[in-house]
Amino acid sequence: MKFRSLVIAGLFVALVSVAAPLLAEGDPAAGMNKTAMCAGCHGIPGFRAAYPETYQVPKLGGQNPGYIVAALKAYKAGERNHPTMKAIASSLTEQDMADLAAYYAEPGKK
Ligand code: HEC
Repeated sequence: MKFRSLVIAGLFVALVSVAAPLLAEGDPAAGMNKTAMCAGCHGIPGFRAAYPETYQVPKLGGQNPGYIVAALKAYKAGERNHPTMKAIASSLTEQDMADLAAYYAEPGKK
């Protein structure tokens, strides 16, 4: 019994140490599935969001992934101030941010 729980604990530790480095990596395919809530504003050339003022929506495609993640974290933390982006970034996990960044950083994305 004791041995068995040790084995289970050992497997768990092994799993976590395999999964941890992967977490920081963005997966563009997973990111694509998360763009539904971004595509209404980003990716439409020249699109302006009219709330709370008129903003030119920045282009994300081809942007440096580190920059995208940093911007999203800054919105979430309140260091960058834009009500809509703050609300959206607050709903994202770090993995979501990494995946989205990996997707948008690929060449040819809007
Ligand atoms: C309602 C419209 C809207 C939606 C939906 C939206 N954004 Fe934004 N986003 C904006 C606007 C407007 C800005 C510019 C805000 C500012 O000036 O800080 C912005 C800025 C950004 C920036 C900073 C870009 C830069 O060049 O500094 C990133 C990154 C970003 N959005 C990612 C996302 C992601 C990822 C999603 C989906 C999960 C998303 N946005 C959804 C309107 C939107």
